[in-house]
Order: sequence, then C-alpha cells, then structure tokens
Amino acid sequence: MPANPVGVAVVGCGTISDEYLRNLTSFPDLRVLFCADLDLERAKAQAARYGVPGAGGVAQAAEHPDVELVVNLTVPAAHAEVGTAAVAAGKSVWNEKPLALDTAAGRGLLAAAARAGLRVGCAPDTVLGAGLQTARRLIADGAIGEPQTALALMQDPGPERWHHDPEFLFARGAGPLFDMGPYYLSTLATLFGPADQVAALGRRGQRSRVVGAGPRAGTRFEVEVPTHVAALIGYARGPAATLVLSFDSPLRRHGFVEVTGTEATLSLADPNRFGGEVRLRRAGRDDWETIPAAGSGATRGLGVLDMARSIRAGLAHRASGELALHVLDTMEAVTRSIAAGTFERVATTFETPDALPAAWDPWAATID
Ligand SMILES: NC(=O)c1ccc[n+]([C@@H]2O[C@H](COP(=O)([O-])OP(=O)(O)OC[C@H]3O[C@@H](n4cnc5c(N)ncnc54)[C@H](O)[C@@H]3O)[C@@H](O)[C@H]2O)c1
Repeated sequence: MPANPVGVAVVGCGTISDEYLRNLTSFPDLRVLFCADLDLERAKAQAARYGVPGAGGVAQAAEHPDVELVVNLTVPAAHAEVGTAAVAAGKSVWNEKPLALDTAAGRGLLAAAARAGLRVGCAPDTVLGAGLQTARRLIADGAIGEPQTALALMQDPGPERWHHDPEFLFARGAGPLFDMGPYYLSTLATLFGPADQVAALGRRGQRSRVVGAGPRAGTRFEVEVPTHVAALIGYARGPAATLVLSFDSPLRRHGFVEVTGTEATLSLADPNRFGGEVRLRRAGRDDWETIPAAGSGATRGLGVLDMARSIRAGLAHRASGELALHVLDTMEAVTRSIAAGTFERVATTFETPDALPAAWDPWAATID
C-alpha cells in the first residue's frame, strides 16, 4: 500500500463513470475520495457502489483538501467549465474528450493550469493501451520501414440506439468527428506527430433522431452536427491520412486503422479499445502476421494513473493537454473545411509522449 497515493475526485457520474470508477478504485497508487454530479443522487449512488467515501456537488469535489486530481467525466459542453473550476481550486484535471468545445476554451484551460503550476491530461487513454503501444513499438523498431500513409474508418448507425441521453452526442462538441475522432486522431498524431493541414466533406444523413434505449426511449431530438465526415489530413513530418467517421451507416465497422510504410502495412487494434491484436503485412507477401499485444490489460483510467504517477515523479504525463488541444484544433480545422470547402491549416503542436514500457503495471504500488 503506497504511503502517499494521489487523491482523486470523479466529477460526472453518468454512463462512462462505471468503467472509470471500477478501474480507478483498483489502482493502489490512487485513492478515489469523492464523486460529484449535478444530479446528487447519481453521485451518491456511484460513491456507494464503488466504496468512495464522499459524494456531493462539483464545488465540494474541487475544494476537498485531499483531492489533487479531478477526473472530469461530464458532457463536452461542461468540460472547460468544470476543468477550469478544478484548476481555480488548485487541482490538476483529467478531462474526458474532447478537451473543450473549441480550441479557444481548451487553450484557456491549459493556460490557467500552467499559471497555477497544475497539470491537464485528457482522454483518450486508449493510446496507452496494449494494442496501440505494441503498434507504436513495432513502428519505432522499423517493422514497416518509413511510415507514409494511413487509412482509418469508423462507420456506425449512431449511439442513440443504446445511450440513454444521446442528445449531446449529436450536438456541438460531439457527432462522429468530436466523439469518435479523438481516438483516431490521437492515434495518428502519436504515430505521425502534429498535423499541419486538413480538408474535409461533411453530411447530415437525418435532421432528427430518436432515443433508442432507457426511460426516455422514443423521444425525438434534433441533429446539430454533420454525421458523416470524410477528411484528408497532412502531417508536418510528411505522412498523409484519410479518415472517415460516420454515424450514417447501417453497417457497423469500428476500429479500422492501417498504417502503410515503405516495407510493410500495419493493421492496428481498434483505437477505441485498449487491447486487440496487431497484424503486419510485409511487402511481397500475401498473408498477415499476427503480433500479440504486449502490455497491461487495464482500460479507462490508465491515463489518470500515468498522470498521478508522473505528478509524484516530476515527469511529463503521456495523455497530455497539449496533445488533446492539437486534436481539438485538428477537428476544428476539419469543421472549418467542411463549411468553407477549403484546405485549412493546423497550427498547434505537441511533444510526442514516450511509449509506455511493456512491463508498466497499473496494479503495482509505485508511489512511496
Ligand atoms: N458513454 C461512453 O461510452 C463514453 C465512452 C468514452 C468517453 N465518453 C465521454 O465521457 C463523457 C461523459 O459521457 P457519458 O456517456 O458518461 O455521459 P452521460 O450523459 O451519461 O453522463 C454525464 C454526467 O455528467 C453530469 N454533468 C453534466 N454537466 C455537469 C456539470 N456541469 N457538473 C457536474 N456534472 C455534470 C450529468 O449529470 C451526467 O451524470 C463525454 O465527454 C463522452 O464523450 C463516453
């Protein structure tokens, strides 16, 4: 048992909070001390379910004396506001994706944290999962030669079929681009470095949709954002990617990412998952080699843990606010391109984080 675990508060106790709370409460280096939500009953229920000692509102979470890190799992429209409130109360913050609704708000959050000597981390932490870390190590070891292009694809009928409150997933800050794009764009940015230009087309297949599950099933709501996005992305170091993200497809096809290099093509694991296999197709061969993923089997919460350990060790954390701001900037450029029909520049940049060692163990107690 570590003597000085990092105290955590979870703010936003909705759908994704189960996976986070299950994992965060299992890591010895963290101590989850508080659950908060606008809906106090939800906060109390999640605290009771996961043995978290405190529950209440956002202000109480931010002011808790033993909380160092606020894990912000609210809806995208509240990410910047809740994150900024946490920073104002002297806490570092982990935001679910996207970092904020727009680059200006994301930049504001990062600047406030920097001024206060605090940290911002952001989902997705799937880039730290065994599948993508294995792909990363293979590429770094030269398995595909020089990486040159990528083809990435996510097609789905839409999350309103299963989410109980899906309106936010079709509003500003979501749609397939802002909801699923961060997984694909963070993966590509981790492999290729910063993007510098994009062009895109967007379409909206249906003007309104119907809640498909839960107590509000049958409720019709407006679709505010494009639900099919096709983008071309140029990376400053030279590679080019083609990315399709769609909620307008009866066929469900998730997680297609192929990276082509001078010597081989690598088929990655689903960027929205943590494990999965990696397959390699060498030049001149007509079969795929399967490479087992190496790394921990942990899921959402890995990035929070890496952030907590990095705080204690005085090192940079991997799922950084800068990477998330760059991904947000890229998505905003895609949105501008859809509206204007032009190529758009992407100006933000980030330091590519170090790969996680294959032996990195979330369940080890590493904090003294
Ligand atoms: N649902 C998923 O499968 C999933 C997967 C990965 C990431 N995410 C991300 O996680 C975030 C939350 O998604 P979700 O599906 O859990 O949403 P949700 O609607 O199920 O839950 C969001 C919760 O946040 C609370 N909330 C909203 N505004 C708040 C505020 N200002 N202060 C405090 N609480 C507030 C709501 O009351 C609700 O309980 C989103 O950014 C989403 O992109 C969701």
